Amino acid sequence: MENIKGYVQEHKDRFINELIELLKIPSVSADTAYSHDVFETADAVKASLEKAGCDFVEICDTPGYPIVYGEKIIDKSLPTVLVYGHYDVQPPDPIELWTSPPFEPVIKKTEIHPEGAIFARGSCDDKGQMYMHVKALEYMVQSNTLPCNVKFMIEGEEEIGSKSLSWFVERNQEKLKNDVILISDTGMISNQQPSITTGLRGLSYVEVEVTGPNRDLHSGLYGGAVANPINVLSKMIASLHDENNHITIPGFYDNVVELSLEERAEMAKAPFNLENYKKALDLNDVYGESGYVTNERNSIRPTLDVNGIWGGYTGEGAKTVIASKAFAKISMRLVPNQDWEQITELFTKHFTSLAPAGVTVKVKPHHGGQGYVTPIDSIGYKAANMAYTETFGVPAIPVRSGGSIPIVALFEKELKSKTILMGFGLDSDAIHSPNEHFGIFNYLKGIETIPLFYKYFVELSK
Ligand code: BES
Ligand code: MN
Ligand code: MN
Repeated sequence: MENIKGYVQEHKDRFINELIELLKIPSVSADTAYSHDVFETADAVKASLEKAGCDFVEICDTPGYPIVYGEKIIDKSLPTVLVYGHYDVQPPDPIELWTSPPFEPVIKKTEIHPEGAIFARGSCDDKGQMYMHVKALEYMVQSNTLPCNVKFMIEGEEEIGSKSLSWFVERNQEKLKNDVILISDTGMISNQQPSITTGLRGLSYVEVEVTGPNRDLHSGLYGGAVANPINVLSKMIASLHDENNHITIPGFYDNVVELSLEERAEMAKAPFNLENYKKALDLNDVYGESGYVTNERNSIRPTLDVNGIWGGYTGEGAKTVIASKAFAKISMRLVPNQDWEQITELFTKHFTSLAPAGVTVKVKPHHGGQGYVTPIDSIGYKAANMAYTETFGVPAIPVRSGGSIPIVALFEKELKSKTILMGFGLDSDAIHSPNEHFGIFNYLKGIETIPLFYKYFVELSK
């Protein structure tokens, strides 16, 4: 195992180039125009798993995009690690804000990544982080140090709600049997301070539609006399938060678990600098629910955010018009114990009740998922912490993240196993934004750290 550092040094150029090739395929799951590329990416992932040393790899067809399954079973009596990742990526837009094309990866130095970072859509979320596991497997196979069985399950619909994965997991419980699930699809505090994600928020995502008159109207002839759907929608949305930025949907907080003061004090120990946070985002102040600090607002508290809003005329110049319809996409981030389907119902009921006479309102649920919290006294957590401690020289800090990976809760329900979230990205890596990137340091450190997780997990399982 001492050799992992040397192996990474020796092969790093090839590791980087292989990832760059994978990043060139625009596997945008949200947009059917890229459908061919999504399928092509699945084939590329399959080939990479075969090359890395899996004994068996297959493309599993689903009602949507395929799941790439691979395995190397060395001894049925040994533990099995199931690696999950996703090969689909977010749409690249707004494309004009990228400093280099999103699917033409280039290495550029940044303040945070002085040794360079790969700029491309999916570099961090999640192709780069997923591929670290493929390279870690390559090392363990080449050096004969794979200490247990390994299964890979790489999907192509994470960014659009993992519908086909749920379908697949429900039908393949025996095949996916494992002792621990390992995922790198989250972040860490900094390159000097690793952290392990111990919580994810749940999600309820809905689209709303407000309809007024049956056609767009002249805003002079009709203005003032009929409901303007955009005005009404704005007012309805504004009323969803009160003056303390609490969400006003009745029952919304009923199942929210309040953390104890001790737990909050523990959270506050994680390094965080508000001035740097504001500076990185060019903000003159932060904003959020009263009674909670930034690191609580974005992890242990539920939220409601408009992700997009449209209607009427948005082209060049002015057009005097009252639109027939107005729309918005709204996400609610939920905390463990809030049930996303129940929250979707509460939202729907409340939002439709807000509609004044003169408009009709429709709520269309998109997708969602439950949140997740995991204890820090499990074998998996300990093994991950030992691995980070060895490669970073300092222990990892447990951190609850604000993001969502809804299938993690589903894994626990269907496969009865815990997930360890060993992320190597940074918040500043701009995932889902223009100029997404992944540090070379982070990529290589991930490849170095993962085999140690296997080693310690197997040792601690004995
Ligand atoms: N990898 C992210 C989630 C993430 C990122 C969690 C960083 C923690 C830290 C994942 O690809 C993602 O974007 N998930 C979506 C949810 C999904 C249902 C569309 C999200 O969080 O918006
Ligand atoms: Mn992801
Ligand atoms: Mn994502």
